[in-house]
This record gives sequence, C-alpha cells and structure tokens, in this order.
Amino acid sequence: MTDTFITLDANTLSNKEIHGYLVSAIAPRPIAFASTINQQGKVNLSPFSYFNVFSTNPPIVVFSPARSGRTNETKHTLDNVLEVPEVCIGIVNHPIVEKMSLASTAYPKGVNEFVKAGFTEQPSEVIKPPRIRECPISMECTVDEVIALGDQGGAGNLVVSRVQRIHINKEYLNEAGKLDSTKLDLVGRMGESWYCRADEDSMFEIPKPLRTTGMGVDQLPESIRNSPTLTANNVGRLGNLEELPSKKAVNTARGIEQVQLILENQNHSTQKQLTELQLLAKSYLEADDIDNAFSILMIADEL
Ligand SMILES: Cc1cc2nc3c(=O)[nH]c(=O)nc-3n(C[C@H](O)[C@H](O)[C@H](O)COP(=O)(O)O)c2cc1C
Repeated sequence: MTDTFITLDANTLSNKEIHGYLVSAIAPRPIAFASTINQQGKVNLSPFSYFNVFSTNPPIVVFSPARSGRTNETKHTLDNVLEVPEVCIGIVNHPIVEKMSLASTAYPKGVNEFVKAGFTEQPSEVIKPPRIRECPISMECTVDEVIALGDQGGAGNLVVSRVQRIHINKEYLNEAGKLDSTKLDLVGRMGESWYCRADEDSMFEIPKPLRTTGMGVDQLPESIRNSPTLTANNVGRLGNLEELPSKKAVNTARGIEQVQLILENQNHSTQKQLTELQLLAKSYLEADDIDNAFSILMIADEL
C-alpha cells in the first residue's frame, strides 16, 4: 500500500524549501501594513503576513520582519522599530491590496513607500509613525520588545506590539457599532503569489459552542458516524449538539412528506431507503434545519 503522506525532516530542507511549505500550509495569513519611522524622522511602510493577535489583555499583536533568506540583510521596518519602538499597523482589505503589494518592493533605505505606493499619511495620536488613511482599521502601537529568533538568513524577529489606539473607518461598522466582517472585505496571504478574499460569498458561519457542550461524534449512532453520504462537516455539526433528538422530535419528522414517501416505497431496498433518508437529512442540514436533519437520520438509523 502506498502511504498517503510524505514526511519531511525540517532540519534537512533548504531555507527556500521550508519557506515554501510553511507559507503555503500556514495560510491564509492576515496582513499587517506596518508604518514605522527612524530617528531622523524618515517614514517606512511595508506589509508583513507573519502577523497575528496574541493577547487581549494586554492587547498584543506580533509581526515578524525576517532577515533576507538570500542576503541576510535586515528589513528597514526592523531597523526602524529598534530605533523608535513604535509602529502603526494598518489592516489590509481588497480595495488596497494591489497598492499594498507595491509597497513591498525593496526600495532603498529612506524611500517612503506611502509616496511610492500612493497612500495617505495621517498623523497618529500617541506615536510618531503616521497611520494609513486608506486602511479600514489602524492600530497605534508601542513596541514592548523585539525578539530575534536567529542571526542567519530567514530568521524572524518578533515585534511584540502593544495596541494603544484603534482607528476604525465608520463605513465598516454595523448598527450596533461593531466591526462588520461582511463589509470589511479582508484579504489573506497564502503560498507563492496567492491571496484570498474574505467577502460575503466566501464567508460562512458555524454556531459557536459557547454555552453548550457538544456530545461529540463518538456519541452518534454508527450509521451516522460512518455514513458514506454525510460529509465530515455534516457529522461535526451533529457532534456539536448536546443530545440525540427526542422520541417526539423523531415522530414529528416521520410526518414529513418526503420521509413518508421514502419509507413507503416498497421497491427500494432498506439500504437504498437509508441512503435516501440520509441524503434528505443532508439537504436539511445544509439548509440549517439541524433538528429535522438529526431526526431524519435517527429514522434512517432505525431501519
Ligand atoms: C503580503 C506580503 C506579506 C509579507 N510578509 C512578510 C513577512 O511576514 N515578513 C517579512 O520579512 N517580509 C514579508 N514580506 C516582504 C516585505 O514586505 C518586503 O521584504 C519589504 O520590502 C520590506 O520592506 P522594508 O525593508 O522597507 O521593511 C511580505 C510581502 C507581502 C507583499
């Protein structure tokens, strides 16, 4: 039997190889558009997708300007935060993605990418680097520490940034004053030259198991758990429910016309009826009618 997986020893891969695997695998990544300044007051703007939020209290975000894999040179952004430990991080959405990419060009030190890529500098309130007017959200941060992860080409430098001010373009707020993910149109960086776009078409919701304790897929009847008709996501959604449907709910589902038609069809084998019921349940699941879906699956299980 051929193995489904290849296994690589990270210690034997070249920088280029490991970089390729990591950035394609760990994706999509949010993009920090980092505005920094040096002691002479020269402004720099560059994107970094080694970026995320790591703490709410204190509010800490971290991004990582790495040493060049080819030349081992440090990024101007890193040099700047070591001189002036402040950064304004803009969030990148689709309307500005092409200009953001332009700002990643390796311009000589001292060149202001706000100018080269066509962004507008807006004075920050509590830090020296300006914020990017075109970004939907900007965070003024002070830098708590910079952690160098190595001194060879490709080594990252964690810029541990403490959020002091958050500026939000009101266009992206909903009526409750909260950020509206459906309006933000955020982009993510993937491997090679790929990006992805989180617009309304590509986003989906999963109910949060906040107050409930999912019973787990191990509690589902075997006919559901190992169904060739249901997807792993279908099964996962059911495992998130707290309990099997009640007898009453299952009886109510028996009254659904399509369920009756399937059960009354004497020309079909039990196996075929089971598949038909599972297919029907799947369509209920995908229409977010979880209760009826589950009940129909229990009817199928009793066949
Ligand atoms: C979307 C995007 C994400 C990037 N992420 C990173 C990153 O996380 N770390 C890094 O060192 N370089 C990253 N780069 C490359 C830097 O932006 C690029 O090296 C830039 O020229 C650095 O500018 P600076 O030397 O002015 O700081 C990224 C480029 C793009 C377009």
